[in-house]
Amino acid sequence: MSDTTVIDTAPLGAGGPRVGVQGLGCMGMAFAYGPTDTSEARATLERALELGVTLYDTADMYGAGENETFLSPFFRAHRDEVTIATKFGIVLDPADPLARNVRNDRPYIRQAVEASLRRLDVDVIDLYYMHRRDPAVPIEETVGAMAELVAEGKVKHLGLSEVTGPELRAAHAVHPIAAIQSEWSLFSRDVERTAVPAAEELGVAFVPYSPLGRGFLTGAFTDASGELTADDFRRHLPRYNGANAEANRALLEPVRRIAEARGATLGQVALAWVHAQAAARGMSVIPIPGTRSRARVEENTAATRIELTPDETAALEPIASRVRGDRYADMSFSSAGRE
Ligand SMILES: NC(=O)c1ccc[n+]([C@@H]2O[C@H](COP(=O)([O-])OP(=O)(O)OC[C@H]3O[C@@H](n4cnc5c(N)ncnc54)[C@H](OP(=O)(O)O)[C@@H]3O)[C@@H](O)[C@H]2O)c1
Repeated sequence: MSDTTVIDTAPLGAGGPRVGVQGLGCMGMAFAYGPTDTSEARATLERALELGVTLYDTADMYGAGENETFLSPFFRAHRDEVTIATKFGIVLDPADPLARNVRNDRPYIRQAVEASLRRLDVDVIDLYYMHRRDPAVPIEETVGAMAELVAEGKVKHLGLSEVTGPELRAAHAVHPIAAIQSEWSLFSRDVERTAVPAAEELGVAFVPYSPLGRGFLTGAFTDASGELTADDFRRHLPRYNGANAEANRALLEPVRRIAEARGATLGQVALAWVHAQAAARGMSVIPIPGTRSRARVEENTAATRIELTPDETAALEPIASRVRGDRYADMSFSSAGRE
């Protein structure tokens, strides 16, 4: 099921711009999910825009800057139509592809924003996120440094990724936060403990990442180690490998049943569930499914028009609590590690 109707819009936080209710995750175009056909990826960016997708998500660490550079011609060609979101804070180690260091200090932020502006080749970043939290740096200090960038015109709106509800509240007291970005899907609902209620109360938009469970919820792969290329990051995520993946595959049965009854795909049902969280809570929820293909962006945006019935929602409800295996191999890399 896919059509080409333009998607609806929603506000990106209380003072933020209106954006398409579904954004586009661009990470896979340069990083983490195996080889990319770059001309199809470029065509996907254009197709997404035609369909009303205006929020484009990247980060400085995706491909060590390569993703921002790749996106820059598209952003420059459509500067007034797109909302550019990028992130700072995860520092890669060239000697170890899996190592992740986190920096939240002011000197680092000031250096990171200049590097992103240069690679993106724009004057201002629309939404600038702290990608991960370094608990050694008070969040007030980090957001204070980010607020300076707003005052200087380098950044328009602020965002935080993988923070807890209390961290979001403390940050929002220093400077309005437009959006929080964390993993939220049929398989990953730990954010509902504190982050989602805080965002709802403060009028902060929620931007769910990996809303398709990094592809697993679509059925596109069933066991990362057995099916994906050696450099694919999903081979390091416990829930998508071996015995965990086998158990988790069975959890997709209700998703499959609903999809078949509606003539939809599994991925569309998974996305419809994420979109349904907006109406259920009266808040902006703007998922950013990642894809490098025009056909899939058409399929994913069409999911914004599926309204799940209460019976369907009830059938999907138990899934997350039964998932085997964590979101990350090291959960200290997530907000759940601090709750
Ligand atoms: N803040 C953070 O820490 C963080 C962490 C992870 C991701 N993100 C952001 O969130 C975005 C989305 O998350 P994600 O890419 O990790 O996971 P996702 O959106 O849940 O899934 C992406 C995967 O699903 C595949 N896919 C997409 N649409 C599909 C469809 N209709 N049918 C079958 N397969 C489909 C994609 O393959 P193809 O590309 O080949 O279509 C890709 O492998 C990223 O691009 C990134 O911008 C942020």
